[in-house]
Amino acid sequence: MSVNDTTSVHDYDILIIGSGAAGLTLALKSADFARVAVISKGELSQGATFWAQGGIAAVLDDEDSIEAHIADTLDAGAGLCHRDMVSHVVENSGACVKWLVEQGVPFTTIAPEDARDGAERAPLQPDNLAPLHLTQEGGHSHRRIIHATDATGRAVFETLARRARQNPNIDLFENRIAIDLITRKKLGLEGEQCVGAYIFSPETSSIEVFKARFVILATGGASKAYLFTTNPDGATGDGIAMAWRAGCRIADMEFNQFHPTCLYHPHAKSFLITEALRGEGAWLELPDGTRFMPQFDSRAELAPRDIVARAIDHEMKRLGCDCVYLNITHKPAAFIQEHFPTIYARCLKFGIDITRDRIPVVPAAHYTCGGVVVDKSGRTDLPNLYAIGETSFTGLHGANRMASNSLLECFVLAFSASEDIRDKIASTPLVSEIPPWDESLVTRSNEEIVVAHNWDELRRFMWAYVGIVRKDERLQRAKRRIQLLEQETEDYYKHYVVTRDLLELRNLVLVARLIVECAIARKESRGLHYTLDHPELLPEAVDTVLTPPNSLAH
Ligand code: FAD
Ligand code: SIN
Repeated sequence: MSVNDTTSVHDYDILIIGSGAAGLTLALKSADFARVAVISKGELSQGATFWAQGGIAAVLDDEDSIEAHIADTLDAGAGLCHRDMVSHVVENSGACVKWLVEQGVPFTTIAPEDARDGAERAPLQPDNLAPLHLTQEGGHSHRRIIHATDATGRAVFETLARRARQNPNIDLFENRIAIDLITRKKLGLEGEQCVGAYIFSPETSSIEVFKARFVILATGGASKAYLFTTNPDGATGDGIAMAWRAGCRIADMEFNQFHPTCLYHPHAKSFLITEALRGEGAWLELPDGTRFMPQFDSRAELAPRDIVARAIDHEMKRLGCDCVYLNITHKPAAFIQEHFPTIYARCLKFGIDITRDRIPVVPAAHYTCGGVVVDKSGRTDLPNLYAIGETSFTGLHGANRMASNSLLECFVLAFSASEDIRDKIASTPLVSEIPPWDESLVTRSNEEIVVAHNWDELRRFMWAYVGIVRKDERLQRAKRRIQLLEQETEDYYKHYVVTRDLLELRNLVLVARLIVECAIARKESRGLHYTLDHPELLPEAVDTVLTPPNSLAH
């Protein structure tokens, strides 16, 4: 149910901050035993989920196996994946797909005649599922990506959002921005626990209190820390920043994934060109038409993303060119239009007919592999606070996420967190009183331009100094600049009335600091973290775990 209510205190069993794949799945799985509020920063569709293209990795083909999916994930993760978490997620992939199909997600299926011909292996059909078409992406040794043409995220989001709107136990609040978590300690009460959150409503310029027995961070990633990104507005790491301020550990933030192929065009705002194009045969070319990936990896265009993005970065720097090209023109036009209708239409708008022209592409920040440290049920260090989806660090992705494992993780961890909450809900009371937000010491700023400039400065130097290829000196340079921005932003936050831009900047600066601290701590090159000063791989793979001064970890 969509809610426009602006009362200042709300009570729920579960408060979910974020309306992407992770948040909506948890809401739907929990609505039969709890009253749920879902908060979204902008419109419900604003997160990364809506924009996901390639699909969801799942073992559905009789020639594929759980072991192969686990082995591919471990291989892409460069020695740093947590094996037990990889098994947990992969083993539950089939159950998630079944649930998504039951919700009504219109995945691309194989026409019966194609299935008979075995043109693209027909997947297993558990419980009479229609045979789903499986595509291929980097790092996967089998075709195992289910998808809804090239707009999988939109199909998933629209289905789950429709279901959530219809559910009387789920209240959806759009245009609400979580500022910070409320804990018993902050209220001066015994026994540390999360008991709610302060939520800013830009429309009314008011700050509301949401009390809850359980709070879930499903706030997505932090790729907006970089100037060029495939992510939509809002990917500012708010959940990671809120969890850190509340005393939770954060890990592996140095592993920010750069997607190799983002459309390069002055008017295209970070439009992704799905890896599935390479899965279906597209290859990468230099401006003169030479194919270069085979020189970098035997898997060529289908090597894991870190390798492909670094190869492109290397070639662009070597030749001084602005972009490289993705070429799928050797495939029949009808095949391209049928499999990639969104990309075909979008590129055509910019005058690029992908059935005849090469697509200019560059790498861009895409996915935050690190995040809030959680266990298999999504539990953080703070009791009754959970983190799921891109905002969390489960150990699944290691030093480099394999394509299409992210949406899968959102569903599996949402299922596990919901089960854990179901077991505890009867014995978890609501806190009785939470004081309202105190605005008595702040005034309205007349210099908003400072916030805009700091945003811009941060994202520029993060791109230049903490990008695909790093150096100790560049990381130190970034660290010094972040210290200054952090001081200035905190000062601003203390003195002026909050705005969305200010709240996001405050979180982004903090998250940028955590990225740089993790990057400085890792004295080797592994997966997505590549540094010219330490090009070797250390024999032991160790996570970078940061502990806040007010840590709750035992
Ligand atoms: P999101 O979907 O990002 O949702 C975050 C939610 O949190 C939003 O509703 C936002 O409004 C809300 N929020 C954030 N901060 C606050 C706050 N302070 N207060 C209130 N609300 C807040 N992965 C795959 O597995 N397969 C793919 O094919 C794929 N393609 C991708 C294509 C693109 C272009 C991008 C950007 C990513 C892609 N990914 C893909 C990655 C994947 O889409 C994301 O990792 C995943 O969707 C994250 O889901 P989520 O629920 O964690 O967060
Ligand atoms: C893509 O479609 O290339 C993105 C897939 C992903 O990020 O997992």
